[in-house]
Amino acid sequence: MATNQDLKLFAGNAHPELLKAICSYLKVSPGEIEVFKFSNDNTFVRILENIREQDVFIVQPLGAPVNDNLMELLIMIDTAKRASAGRITAVIPYYAYGRSDKKDQPRVPITARLVANLIEVAGANRVLTIDLHAGQIQGFFNIPVDELSAIPMLARYYMEKNFEDVVVTATDIGDAKRAGDTAKILNADIAIIEKHRIGNKEMVEASNLIGDVEGRTAIIVDDEMLTGGTVIAATEALMEHGAKEIWCGVTHGVLSGKAPELIENSAIKEFLTTDTLPIPDTKRMSKTKVLSVASLLGEAIYRIHNGQSVGAMFED
Ligand code: R5P
Repeated sequence: MATNQDLKLFAGNAHPELLKAICSYLKVSPGEIEVFKFSNDNTFVRILENIREQDVFIVQPLGAPVNDNLMELLIMIDTAKRASAGRITAVIPYYAYGRSDKKDQPRVPITARLVANLIEVAGANRVLTIDLHAGQIQGFFNIPVDELSAIPMLARYYMEKNFEDVVVTATDIGDAKRAGDTAKILNADIAIIEKHRIGNKEMVEASNLIGDVEGRTAIIVDDEMLTGGTVIAATEALMEHGAKEIWCGVTHGVLSGKAPELIENSAIKEFLTTDTLPIPDTKRMSKTKVLSVASLLGEAIYRIHNGQSVGAMFED
């Protein structure tokens, strides 16, 4: 792959390791930038090289501390705009506030839309992301959004396991498309859990399981794991219905609170996730397996930069 001279990639403090891995795929060096806080808690950014008229990609997943990382992203975009970048793409492997995508209770915000507005107003010309909580979030932006999917990568991993009789399990109705897409690649059936959230306290219960899982290998798929409550409820439902063994694959390992321990002490054989967010050693247990999205993002960046189809990456 030719080195792209006018391609510039920068990261804030959210996930510099991912930027390094993307740059290594693209055979370019990470852009030089400083991003830090003054003693008054104000974030300061300075790009340390010329980017005038260049194609700039800013890599910043919105993991914890979410609001700091978001603010860094906005300030980096503003910095690039004021430094006369030719085009600015916000590369947001994990888009926070995705669950706040509709008014499903009285007097609540639609924060996913607010974040989209902020990114646009800051000066981004495009967004590149992976597995949004709901695809419709793309429509909150009035600039092009390329949403990649880690599903083929996760499905390929399971394909290599040569399981005999697989049922891909959606953790709720909204997850059915993801399960269906995974099942299609694996040539497997799907099952769907009927899940209810209890108030706003991050508690869930699985009330019903639709599909035949008895004696079969179940693979739970989801876009993200936060507290682990959803996956644990799904695991219990699968066990009650006689699943032979249970695997779990999610794109975004947010892993808040006691999620790593919950998974480690559950009946799940292995917890598969990706590095859209940093997964520190403290969150990696013996059952954790992490695949990298660096080549997926690197290839998409290469194609965006060269005006090639991103959709073609998923045609097979
Ligand atoms: C929810 O609708 C999502 O798809 C995930 O199932 C959810 O965000 C996981 O959260 P937790 O791990 O806290 O149950």
